[in-house]
Amino acid sequence: MARLSVIGAGYLGVTHAVCMAHLGHDVIVIDTDANRIETLKNGVVPFHEPELSELLAKTLASEKITFTTSWNDVAASADIHFLCVGTPQKAGSHAADLSQVDNATTSLAQHLSGPALVVGKSTVPVGTAARLAYELKTTCGEDVHLVWNPEFLREGFAVQDTLHPDRIVLGVSHQSDVAALEAVYAATLSDGTPLLVTDYATAELVKVAANAFLATKISFINAFADLADATGADVTQLADAIGHDTRIGRRFLNAGVGFGGGCLPKDIRALQARATELGLAEKFAFLTAVDDINKSRKHTVVERVLESLDGDLNHKVISVLGAAFKPDSDDIRDSPALHVAEMLAEGGAKVRIHDPEASKILKTRETAFAVCDTIDEVLANADVVVHLTEWAVYREIDPAHAASLVNNPIMIDGRNVLDKTRWTNAGWTISYLGKPGS
Ligand code: UDX
Repeated sequence: MARLSVIGAGYLGVTHAVCMAHLGHDVIVIDTDANRIETLKNGVVPFHEPELSELLAKTLASEKITFTTSWNDVAASADIHFLCVGTPQKAGSHAADLSQVDNATTSLAQHLSGPALVVGKSTVPVGTAARLAYELKTTCGEDVHLVWNPEFLREGFAVQDTLHPDRIVLGVSHQSDVAALEAVYAATLSDGTPLLVTDYATAELVKVAANAFLATKISFINAFADLADATGADVTQLADAIGHDTRIGRRFLNAGVGFGGGCLPKDIRALQARATELGLAEKFAFLTAVDDINKSRKHTVVERVLESLDGDLNHKVISVLGAAFKPDSDDIRDSPALHVAEMLAEGGAKVRIHDPEASKILKTRETAFAVCDTIDEVLANADVVVHLTEWAVYREIDPAHAASLVNNPIMIDGRNVLDKTRWTNAGWTISYLGKPGS
């Protein structure tokens, strides 16, 4: 079994580390945030992700995973080092902020004293890996190599996506480095997971191309949602019908309030910024449209709320179902649900919000809206209810009971998943984004 380090204890790093330890490797995790490291040492995962807490407990008990803030520990305990730090959007720019990647690489390089493999997993602008490889060579000499190994995990499915990915991509400069990574991923590869070995630039681009394609698919169907609203068509049936064409596929064609989270929005902006640096601004201008369509979805929901209230938000009670950017996650980064809640509150409405997981996080922050613990509490006296994150618990709400709690039984389903017959039979007026409501 291999001796691995994971640099960065965020979403990607913790998931990768725990899954690698679960596969039997010896893993040491480093982060600059000492509190986060303490939390993890105590067996607490600092975010919501199915299966992860159980696997952390198991791997802590078997001593397959350890946590540190010391680079000396990392250099002494591992031969393969996974870079899993964040690459957020730079303040005041669309480009990626690479300071964490740069700092991590520099710190690691200063502590390495023998042969090692550094494996980049963070999402970076194309060209970064070549630059980091050069820096490693300059500081550490010929015995420290870099491999670029992009990560495609989805929040909510992070463990399964790490243990059973669709593909493993390795960008290498030395073909001989492939064997070490094949050994790390042996269990996964033995399941038949495709392995693609390529150069640095292609490996970096695979990740951003995949995210750009997914974002484009969502904005494509959302543009058709507006066209469906303008013509009385049904965007869900449209997606079902075109999705039967296997060249198109049905997945990622769910119209609604749009995409959010820590990846798709910032990754399409960073890709466009990088393409512009490389003189390809015009070719990648379509990503401006993808981003703009996505941003406009929140306004569409707010307009729908205004229509249902005769144009007046003042003092109206609006209940928002969902705060996380998607279900089975407590991640509120760039969450469409939160953006809508904030816009409604700014417009003068009394906004209340509920989320099965993200409520806890929201309660630690100053917000322009009230955060509720239960669905009954959020629905009480509502003038309009807006459904924005497709948690299963919201689909299971009893519409008759909900109608008894609200002031006006008006539902705006920003995810197009609530059953029209069930809700209208209980006296609700329901509207969707891109399909006829009641
Ligand atoms: C995404 C990519 O899927 C993953 O491969 C990459 O590694 C990181 O970014 P994630 O951010 O976890 O993963 O979320 P994802 O499941 O892709 O959903 C992104 C957003 O798109 C969510 O807000 C979701 O609600 C929205 N979405 C998704 C739609 O609006 N419609 C769809 O049909 C699918």
